[in-house]
Amino acid sequence: MTNLKIIKNSENLVKEIQKYKLKKNNIGFVPTLGALHKGHLELIRLAKKRSDVVVVSIFLNPVQFDSKKDFSTYPINISQDKKKIFSEKINILYMPTIKKIFPKKKIKIIKASKISKKLCGKYRKGHFDGVVTVLKELFGQVDPNIVYFGEKDFQQVMVVQDLINKYKLKIKVFVFPTVRDKSGLAYSSRNNLLNKKQKIIASHLLKTIKKISKKIIKSPKDIKKIKNWGIKNLLKCGFNKVDYLEIFNQKTFIETKKIKNSRIFVSAWIGDIRLIDNYLIR
Ligand code: PAJ
Repeated sequence: MTNLKIIKNSENLVKEIQKYKLKKNNIGFVPTLGALHKGHLELIRLAKKRSDVVVVSIFLNPVQFDSKKDFSTYPINISQDKKKIFSEKINILYMPTIKKIFPKKKIKIIKASKISKKLCGKYRKGHFDGVVTVLKELFGQVDPNIVYFGEKDFQQVMVVQDLINKYKLKIKVFVFPTVRDKSGLAYSSRNNLLNKKQKIIASHLLKTIKKISKKIIKSPKDIKKIKNWGIKNLLKCGFNKVDYLEIFNQKTFIETKKIKNSRIFVSAWIGDIRLIDNYLIR
């Protein structure tokens, strides 16, 4: 049985990691914002299967939030998170203070790759720059061999891979399929903010995406028409705004009429809660 170490200080983390590295242990890292749910826990379980040592971080990174309200209402619950982590029997829970990640008052922002300008990046200015800025620091401190990310945030995975390539980091990225509840809704920390009625509306996100997938397979040329149908359908189901509904090649993030490697990306609002999802057309 492993004894969980909760570490808040980067110097202690580096020392602990060095001990494992001396033993030639393979380090797996799962970075999170906290408010842990089943999606996070499945990701952690996968990391446990594939790595000798698992480090999970909880750091509510202010730099990646483009909206003050989104940051202040983020449903963080540290004592619940600790309980959940204890039962996963990982090696290290890293919970740094902001000073341990960004010691200087003026944070040096790293620019994310070109892909970050599309989809979520278009609507959340600076979001992906904030993500890569914190991950560059966390990767430096944890020094992982493998990092585990969720397909739910597919654009984030691409941006992280570009960061790793840019800085020639010796880190492998493992992508884990989206974990969903019975209704098909992808687990997300923000789901905690949805009431019963809103959860029913939210369940129409995947249903609509699957219908789009079927329509595209039937007539790939009608992409514009099908996208419009999708937006209208989401609004009819109770979403109050659709930021984007795109069908992109998942490697280039460019619209495509070819079905192979086509992925549907959606971001839509219920009240002031923004949900995202994506789905490989098949
Ligand atoms: P967070 O939203 O907490 O997500 C942490 C990891 O869990 C990400 O890799 C995300 O894709 C994955 N995840 C979230 N919901 C999931 C689900 N339903 N199924 C599978 N995996 C899921 O993403 C972030 O934090 C931050 O941007 C971070 C990478 C930690 C940088 O601050």
